[in-house]
Amino acid sequence: MRSIERDWLRRALWGCTFDDFLIAPGWGIAKSRKEISLASKFSHNIRLKIPIVSANMDTITGARMAIAIAKEGGLGIIHRYLSIADQVSKVEEVKREENFIIEKPYSIFAHQTINEARKLMAKNKVGGLMVVNDSGKLVGILTNRDIRYCAETELVSSRMTSPPELLTAKLAEISLEKAKALMDQHCLEKLPLVDADFNLKGLITSKDIENMEKYPLANKDTNGQLIVGAAIGATGDYIERTAELIKANVDVIVLDIANAQSDVGLAAVVNFRKNFPSMELVVGNIVIPEAIAVFMRQDVNGFKVGLGPGSACTTRKNTNIGVPQAQAVYTCLMASSVPICADGGIKRNGSIAEALILGAGSVMIGGMFAGTDESPGLVFRDSTGRKVKSFRGMASREAMYEKLRAEEADDPYEISSRISPEGIEKNVEYRGSVVPMIADIIGNLASTISYMGAMSLQEAKEMFMERPTSFLIKLSEAAKRESWER
Ligand code: XMP
Repeated sequence: MRSIERDWLRRALWGCTFDDFLIAPGWGIAKSRKEISLASKFSHNIRLKIPIVSANMDTITGARMAIAIAKEGGLGIIHRYLSIADQVSKVEEVKREENFIIEKPYSIFAHQTINEARKLMAKNKVGGLMVVNDSGKLVGILTNRDIRYCAETELVSSRMTSPPELLTAKLAEISLEKAKALMDQHCLEKLPLVDADFNLKGLITSKDIENMEKYPLANKDTNGQLIVGAAIGATGDYIERTAELIKANVDVIVLDIANAQSDVGLAAVVNFRKNFPSMELVVGNIVIPEAIAVFMRQDVNGFKVGLGPGSACTTRKNTNIGVPQAQAVYTCLMASSVPICADGGIKRNGSIAEALILGAGSVMIGGMFAGTDESPGLVFRDSTGRKVKSFRGMASREAMYEKLRAEEADDPYEISSRISPEGIEKNVEYRGSVVPMIADIIGNLASTISYMGAMSLQEAKEMFMERPTSFLIKLSEAAKRESWER
């Protein structure tokens, strides 16, 4: 983009947010929306097949949301308002969800009881256990069908299927095609993998094979497991927390504090890099372009941009501090050589396209995914009888209380009642699964790109940055009414 256009764009966006603009169409060339690629990046090394990230909020992203989003091609960031062990177990749950080969299947000894087997299966939410001897050799397999009605005191050895009925394959010789053929031929749901000495080396399940075919866009790491991120703070246990999350194979750490552009934020990043020189790190939240330059010197891999646009956020109202989100996204992008994630303020699908066209590599969504099956929390009825779920800002009194409780603070209730909140808790209508919502988002985003005359998100962004004056239309009050009042 020429500097004259850069200046024009900066001035056009100053003080503005998503609802202030429309994007003008170009000459359409796509034959079908299905041809359009939405590939993007969350950070330097974390690729996305769809540019959607679920927010690290305790009423938005636990394991279930992270799994759903990654299966559709995006990314979930597990929130940090829970103990290290609980956060790690959520990362592990995501990592176990999809595999071609499960490297460490759950196992039990033949001399243990059915009661122990049932407990192990329930705790780990699996339908089968590998039975091994003391030296790790496979001696059988036990599935929940084998033990449906038997006494708790019976031994695993009396119910397991063992060779020659038990079919296995050699880890060194297996491929997806061979596994499918073998499992189809013998009607198997589980195929244990062994080495030449019959040591247990892995497991293939029919569910994993079906998932691979059902979710072609699933966002996976090099081991074939779903990608997941986790948030950390800037004080307290964040280094120990990161070390444990890395052991659980987390793909990206998001250092997430209300105002990362601060001494506290910078000190945390410096300390993080000293301890974890090569771990993928995204830093937020930031809205000052000059701060981006400071963090770039610490090898940060991405930024989370936004101050106050969030739907459960009262920072702007209570402190009068903030930067309108369209301005923040563009000005931070101009200062950054790594991807930025536009965090907060998405209330309709069109704003997602706008944030991306203005330069964001991805969009973080909180409130729009609240009240879904995949968001943590229970469905209940409010006083009018509506089915609802609770949604809250992470700087609300209620979330603060939960954080203090996870940290085992002395009197969480007393401390949280004395803070000045910058977020609210509210009930949102129960909305069913997030999956159809993501399908709508993807479809609408592909339409934006097609209307603009591009074949991919990347191309649409480049076209916009080449000729911003042809695409960006600042709206009058009447045009806003015409566009948004429905
Ligand atoms: P949406 O609009 O998608 O925004 O709900 C999600 C983002 O909002 C931020 N967030 C907060 N901001 N006080 C704030 O000032 C809060 O209590 C709060 N909780 C969440 C956060 O960046 C999130 O991703």
